[in-house]
Amino acid sequence: MRKQIVAGNWKMNKNLQEGIALAKAINEYFTNKPAEKADVILCTPFIHLSSMAGIINAKRLSFGAQNCASEVSGAYTGEVSADMIKSTGAEYVILGHSERRSYYHEDNALLNKKTVLALQTGLKVIFCCGEVKEERVAEKHFDVVKVQLEEGILNLPAEDMKNIVIAYEPVWAIGTGLTATPDQAQEMHNFIRSLVEKHYGKKVANDMTILYGGSCTPSNAKEIISKPDVDGGLIGGAALKAEDFSAIVEAF
Ligand code: PGA
Repeated sequence: MRKQIVAGNWKMNKNLQEGIALAKAINEYFTNKPAEKADVILCTPFIHLSSMAGIINAKRLSFGAQNCASEVSGAYTGEVSADMIKSTGAEYVILGHSERRSYYHEDNALLNKKTVLALQTGLKVIFCCGEVKEERVAEKHFDVVKVQLEEGILNLPAEDMKNIVIAYEPVWAIGTGLTATPDQAQEMHNFIRSLVEKHYGKKVANDMTILYGGSCTPSNAKEIISKPDVDGGLIGGAALKAEDFSAIVEAF
């Protein structure tokens, strides 16, 4: 059985005190009311990671980063390595988010390099893919996602796949209030699963957790997550409030 996951992506929000308060509220919520079906992950800015280890102890709750360096260590001013992230107790790192791809020009080759390094370090990777609006309108969305995944992760050895989670995030749905319809999400998730199957066979494809992200809220999460190939969500805006985030996990 594949894992169901709800991951919060805090992006560049919450100073240290605010982040600690949010993590404590979420941890308390899930200590009192354990998440039954889904693993819950808080992906915070780097500065929060070392505090998270002391706060998060609810069952099924863990934490991770939103990016890592493409080099192991050394003279790379301002960068944070996979090993540094891992040393805080973090379990996950998000790679390939559309904001990294567009604002910081991270391409598939660089993301592949980062993924290899993160996996070697023992982190699990939440690898994002998704098309922009023009690509959807031009009906190129399947091709775009195929290339992002084939060049980003589907060239790695099969045994790496158990440490990778794929997140489909149509860029036109991120932070816009526009969500993909449950059918659009299902169609793409099914396509992604067949692509994984083509490269690694049925078992690996069946075990692959595929998350949907893009304007997920407590009110629309249930319908999207109920689709057979949608195994959870990557949540941005709604992950910044403990009540909204917990309500999305409750949608399971
Ligand atoms: P959003 O962001 O939920 O605010 O749309 C999702 C994401 O970018 O991961």
